[in-house]
Parts: sequence; structure tokens; C-alpha cells
Amino acid sequence: MSGWCGRVKKERLRSSPLAVDECFPLALSARRRQSKKMNADPIQTLLLPFETGEAPMPAPGRGLFLRAEAHPALAYGETAARWKEALIAVQSFKPAFDRLQAAGFDALPAMPDDRDFDVALVRITKHKQETLGLLAQAYAALAPGGRLHVAGAKDEGIESIEKRLKSVLGPVSSVSKYHARAVTIEKQGGPMPDELAAWADAALPRAHVERFVTAPGMFSFDKVDKGSRLLVEHLPKDIKGRVADFGAGWGYLSSAMLGACPYMRRLDLYEAEAMALDCARHNVASNREDLEITFNWADVTAGGMPAKRYDFIVMNPPFHSDKAQQASLGQEFIKAAAKALKPGGRLIMVANLMLPYDRTIAAEFDLHRTLVQADGFKVIEARR
Ligand SMILES: C[S@@+](CC[C@H](N)C(=O)[O-])C[C@H]1O[C@@H](n2cnc3c(N)ncnc32)[C@H](O)[C@@H]1O
Repeated sequence: MSGWCGRVKKERLRSSPLAVDECFPLALSARRRQSKKMNADPIQTLLLPFETGEAPMPAPGRGLFLRAEAHPALAYGETAARWKEALIAVQSFKPAFDRLQAAGFDALPAMPDDRDFDVALVRITKHKQETLGLLAQAYAALAPGGRLHVAGAKDEGIESIEKRLKSVLGPVSSVSKYHARAVTIEKQGGPMPDELAAWADAALPRAHVERFVTAPGMFSFDKVDKGSRLLVEHLPKDIKGRVADFGAGWGYLSSAMLGACPYMRRLDLYEAEAMALDCARHNVASNREDLEITFNWADVTAGGMPAKRYDFIVMNPPFHSDKAQQASLGQEFIKAAAKALKPGGRLIMVANLMLPYDRTIAAEFDLHRTLVQADGFKVIEARR
């Protein structure tokens, strides 16, 4: 679409005194708005029944925590050592998993096989179907008489989750505090209610997008993202050699490259969400003997990516849901890509037009240009 820009004075850009807020005054007002409503603390609410003595703390190894977080009250507070002994912390998102391990939790990327926990804690997610699946898993993992504790912020839909739980499992007790709500329910003996089995089933990976296997909660689980599609439609024909897909999700971009880039010799997928990576293993398969494919559960922004390894990196980077820091994650991805490319290597990425990536790209790459702009997105090519 446009010609190359570049050969900018990188040092000037890196040390520019202009703060992001001066360039993007909207970001500043969004941050102010955000900070006013940022007080919700569902984990603190989740812990209330234990603090008041209403619920007994689980014995060592007898508590399960799904979508666990290394919240300060669990990781560093007064009773932290007891919580760390008590809980098996399950977290499939690598940055959060790493924080749990660093804080000393017994962390797992997927559900353990054990089925007789006394307590199960669940922090709800943004996706209702995924949350219902987690609740069904947690309930099934409890011993009869065990307690399920569920918490979420009010604007995350915890009240509707509470209604669903009541309708299937009967009376619950609940508490509201810290702009969040925690719901407790005791497991009855007998077979698992049919509705719970249906929740568990609906959350399982299956072919939701054409032939692609995905699951609720994953990025774009039920349709191809518009930006990703635009990127695929404008993939350079000469992608070859060592190639990486950063934030590969369930494998849409990598799968497209398998079809379009016969001269790739190696394709490394990096993805933080272990469940999405499992789907990618299924979706990105090739019987080409001259092509090696690897699947890496990794936090691209954690500083551990290989240096100067790739001829091409392709990505549709993630962004924070918190508006005030929306772009920072994508900016970290751009920096990680710049580090991982060989001299002369190329980054092909798609971005929402609203996201301020231009300065980071100009600072990290010698040349860059826009390949296409459409539907609120642009596809950018940048060269080291
Ligand atoms: C916008 S989605 C793109 C997914 C896929 N490439 C596509 O085009 O459909 C960004 C992906 O980055 C992943 N992600 C988020 N933070 C990450 C991190 N720190 N390291 C690696 N992957 C991350 C998300 O789980 C998500 O799958």
C-alpha cells in the first residue's frame, strides 16, 4: 500500500521526552476513568468466608484453585504459607502460571486427576461458557460435602452465574464486598446433575470454526478474527526459512502459512494459553518432511525468547482489556520480535488502527511500511 519508511534515528526515538499521554491524550482520560472503577477485588471477596471462620481452611493439598492467581492475600499475606500448602493452583495462562510458581504455589497447567478435594475455588473468567465448564469441573473434583467457592466482579456477570448455580444445585450462600461477589455451595452426594455434565461438555474443544478445533474463552473461538483474516490475505509470498508465530492462539495464522509458504523450513508457534496451544497442535499439522513444527507454551514478553533466530515472524499481538494499558502488551510483542529476528529478518503483523504501535516499530526496526489498511486494521511489514 505505502512505501518503506525508516532509517530513523533510533536513539532519538527511544529517548524522546514525549510521554505516551502527550501523544495520546485519550489514553490519559481512559486511565483516569479506569482507575475509578478498578477497586473490584474478587479474590479478596472469595477469601472472606475463610477469614470470618464461616468456611474452614482446607488441609494441605485438599484445596483446588481453578484459574488461580497469585493474589497478594494468598501469596504474601499473613496466612499465605497455609494457603500455599493447602492449594493445588491450576492455571493454563503462562504469565499467571509463572507468577504462581514464583510465589511458591504448587501450580499445574491443567486439572489434576484427583477427585476428592474438600474445597474448590474458582475465579470466573470473561467468557460465560468457559466459566460454566470450570464450575462443572470444580464440582466434579469435590468429595461429597466439599465446598465450591466462586467469585467474580459484579460487571463480570457473577450474579448471572449465581442464578445458574442456584437453578441447578439449589440454595447457595453469598457475600458481596470489594465490588465483587462470592458464592458458596456444598456438594451433595449422588450422580452429577445432567446440566453440569452439559456445561462441562459445552466447554470442551471441538470444531467451532470450519475444521479448526477451538474452545470457549480462547481468542476468536467461534469465528476467524477480521484482523487475522486480513493478515492472511496479505501474507508475503516469499515467507521462507525459519519462521515464528508469536501469540499463535489455536493456530489460524500458522495453518494459513502451511498452505501458502512452501519454502518454510521451520515453524515455531509460541502461545501463553496452554489450552489454545493444544488446539493448535491439532489444527497445525503437516506431513512435509522438510518442515519442522514446534509448539511452545511461552510468555513472549518474559525475556526468554531466542535472539536473532528467525527470518520471519508473523503475529496478531494481544492487547490488554484494561484500556489504560491496552497497547503495552502489543508493544512488548514488537520488541520481542525485533530481538528474535535475524538482521534483515522481517516482521509481518496486523494491528487495530486505534493501537499506537508506530513509535515502537520505528524505534525497533530499520524499515517499515503498511501493506494494507482495511476494516479498522492495518497489516504492517517491518525489517531489521
Ligand atoms: C490476538 S490473539 C491472536 C491469535 C492468533 N494468532 C490469531 O491470529 O487468531 C493473541 C494471542 O496471544 C496470546 N497471548 C497473550 N499474552 C501472551 C503472552 N504474554 N505470550 C504469548 N502469547 C500471549 C493470547 O492467548 C492469544 O491467543
